[in-house]
Amino acid sequence: MNVFDKEMLSRLDREHVWHPFTQMKDLLAGEPLFIAGGKGCLLKDIDGNEYIDGTSSLWVNIHGHNVEEINEAIRKQLGQIAHSTSLGLANVPATLLAEKLVSIAPPGLARVFYSDDGSTAVEVALKMAFQYWRNVEGESTRRRKFVSLELGYHGDTLGAVSVGGIDLFHGIFGPLLFESLRAPAPYCYRCRFAQEPATCNRECVLSLRKIFAENEGEIIALILEPLVQGAAGFIVHPSGYLAEARRMCDEAGTLLIADEVATGFGRTGKMFACQHENVTPDLMCVAKGLTGGYLPLAATVTTESVFEAFLGDYSGNKTFFHGHSYTGNQLACVAALASLELFEKRNVLGELSQKIEYLRKGLERFWELAHVGDVRQCGFIGAVELVHDKKTRQPFPYEERTGAKVCRRARDKGALVRPLGDVVYFIPPYCIAEPQLQRLLDAAFESIREVTAARAT
Ligand SMILES: Cc1ncc(COP(=O)(O)O)c(C=O)c1O
Repeated sequence: MNVFDKEMLSRLDREHVWHPFTQMKDLLAGEPLFIAGGKGCLLKDIDGNEYIDGTSSLWVNIHGHNVEEINEAIRKQLGQIAHSTSLGLANVPATLLAEKLVSIAPPGLARVFYSDDGSTAVEVALKMAFQYWRNVEGESTRRRKFVSLELGYHGDTLGAVSVGGIDLFHGIFGPLLFESLRAPAPYCYRCRFAQEPATCNRECVLSLRKIFAENEGEIIALILEPLVQGAAGFIVHPSGYLAEARRMCDEAGTLLIADEVATGFGRTGKMFACQHENVTPDLMCVAKGLTGGYLPLAATVTTESVFEAFLGDYSGNKTFFHGHSYTGNQLACVAALASLELFEKRNVLGELSQKIEYLRKGLERFWELAHVGDVRQCGFIGAVELVHDKKTRQPFPYEERTGAKVCRRARDKGALVRPLGDVVYFIPPYCIAEPQLQRLLDAAFESIREVTAARAT
């Protein structure tokens, strides 16, 4: 079979593949877009059309595609070994990567537990935190509750869904989940307390404080996405929220889990989002950009004191009985090492600060669009919230799928962006050049204008 026989591939895809987060009825009625190549921030379909990868292929290909240094690291490792288990055995790339991760993580994080993707990194953190208190306080511990944020997203496995707060994704699974106490998201544009940021009394912070006070001695951990809640539509937290959350955890003597799956590895302008507020969490989850988008790999990084709570005689039952088949996979670890080396070699964070500024200026223009209600930015993340009524902030009817229509239109203009509801966002690879970034923003701008103008108001 000619692998580029598009008609046959389309038929096979429609007959056999179930795409994630996708209403398949829609996909079955259309033609799937087949990506066949990529270089830098560009993706190429099987007909040779090029697109700017506006989402870093779902926030993972931070250095872009086909990165020679990462290709070479994987090729070299292939000549040695692709995989051996980490259960009871060590391997060179996993050990070196653990040391590297600890060296760039917020101070105090010292131990690396590998898994495969963001959801499993979170699953590990939740189970580790739960067992930590059992190991420290014994079976009679009263700590049985997690605290999480409304509109939070931590992945699709059941533990991660239990601490998730997006009803559209998580609501249906309610009967399968453990209970988590939800604090209001600091979503200033749609403030639950009908306040404005300039004059509010930080009611969201007070609510979180109240949850801590009412559940004294019963909280296992607070889990949150530091600085920005990605899947909720890139809700950017007010400055200081994270540090305040850390203080509350300290005062309550409980753990803080920072889910840096989306924010980690430079996306917010620093290596980790926690570093903007000098916060060291007790557990930090990383995945997505860890291997530069080459292979699935995740890590839950924790402190020596959490680690020590799991030490003991075998009969003491303190062992963390958790582990995945591909834990510490050599190919994934060398990809991650190569990706992290690139940060130094290419001065990625230094270069990024200029691009963040360029993005900031480029986003300003979106305010002039009649149906853009909010424009948000956190580092090299940009997001535009589309609304039916700019004054009242009334959203478009959900079933109109305005955000999806905008993204479909942008694709015809050579830009691949994805919506989160009616939020259109930009998370390009760091290697994107300014003219390409401009093309990405222009494609989105025009698409929003055209789609919202075409709609009867
Ligand atoms: C903050 C956060 N945590 C966890 C996840 C889950 O990661 P994965 O899709 O790799 O399981 C995501 C994915 O978008 C995320 O944004």
